[in-house]
Amino acid sequence: MVLILAIETSCDETSAAVLNSQNVLSNITSTQAFHSEYGGIVPELASRAQLKLIDAITGQAIKKAGVILSDIETIATTQGPGLIGSLLVGYNYAKSIAISLSKKFIPVNHVEAHLYSSFIEKESIDFPFIGLIVSGGHTILVQVKNYFEYKLLGQTIDDAAGEAFDKAAKLLGLPYPGGPEIDRLAKTGEESFYNFPTARIKDNPYNFSFSGIKTSLLYFLRDNFKEFSQSKNNSTIPLNDICASYQRAVVASLTEKTLKAAKEFSVKNISVSGGVSLNSKLRNEFLNLESRGYKIFFPDAEFTTDNAAMIGYTAFLKLKYKNYKPDISKLSESAFARFDYSYFNT
Ligand code: KG4
Ligand code: ZN
Repeated sequence: MVLILAIETSCDETSAAVLNSQNVLSNITSTQAFHSEYGGIVPELASRAQLKLIDAITGQAIKKAGVILSDIETIATTQGPGLIGSLLVGYNYAKSIAISLSKKFIPVNHVEAHLYSSFIEKESIDFPFIGLIVSGGHTILVQVKNYFEYKLLGQTIDDAAGEAFDKAAKLLGLPYPGGPEIDRLAKTGEESFYNFPTARIKDNPYNFSFSGIKTSLLYFLRDNFKEFSQSKNNSTIPLNDICASYQRAVVASLTEKTLKAAKEFSVKNISVSGGVSLNSKLRNEFLNLESRGYKIFFPDAEFTTDNAAMIGYTAFLKLKYKNYKPDISKLSESAFARFDYSYFNT
């Protein structure tokens, strides 16, 4: 049994969680809604908001867990990737607590935490599995053989899946973040309205590309709707049908490549995580695979977008299965090194 306090501030969420080994006692997340005014995240404002909130959110998480700070033995925090200003707030806050109160300190990779988030509060992790991580900043496909044993299969060569949604929404004049908006409008739309192309990538069939589809949306709108105006209210055009068609194409690319990998490597377990895994079409398409003998894992909604529980859970796994030995004196210089997906080639 180990009590872990986890902190996550890599982008525009301020989150703190307390775990008792793998059990989540509390997970408090505050999202900075004001960025929608700007149509995207403003890094300087994000880090300043993190500074304002971090102490209060951490206090709430500790209180809700019914523990006191001195009970906690281990502090876990996101070390990257993310926005440097935002990361620095949580990392230094967590490290200060660890140094001043002589706690163990465990830095956690944010993308790796998304990978394991599907298994929080589940009985066990079903290895081997194919992991698809789809968020606002990342789209990657990994074969996971065991704890911390990975093979990187593919990644996006340009935009992330979340960006494909966010940029399309911006074009259409819909609020940020665009994923939930497109998902909502698509529910009453006709997805056969227009056939948006999905990219085929020569070098690696498991790589993704989403910049072309966004451009094809722009051309489609310009060519077919005289009244279309970029980033303005476009309520006179058939937004529901366009969102449904666009969403179909993004989701098709994600499901096809993941299924191809599952077949090629004869893996029956598939995990889909990260903010975009909240998408209802994506969830349905993957769940349909269960009738073909696949087992599909998604994180619960509160563990899907950025959250500290996934950081604490990954720290727990590092302690238990990686025999991770925290050494706080070695954790400064390399902490924010630029993230390289080859991390997932072990
Ligand atoms: O994992 P996350 O919170 O942040 C990153 O680590 O990047 O993911 C945020 C992304 C945004 O791009 C947002 O538009 C997308 O997740 N998203 C969705 C949905 N809900 C959130 N995309 C599609 N459909 C949704 N329902
Ligand atoms: Zn994330």
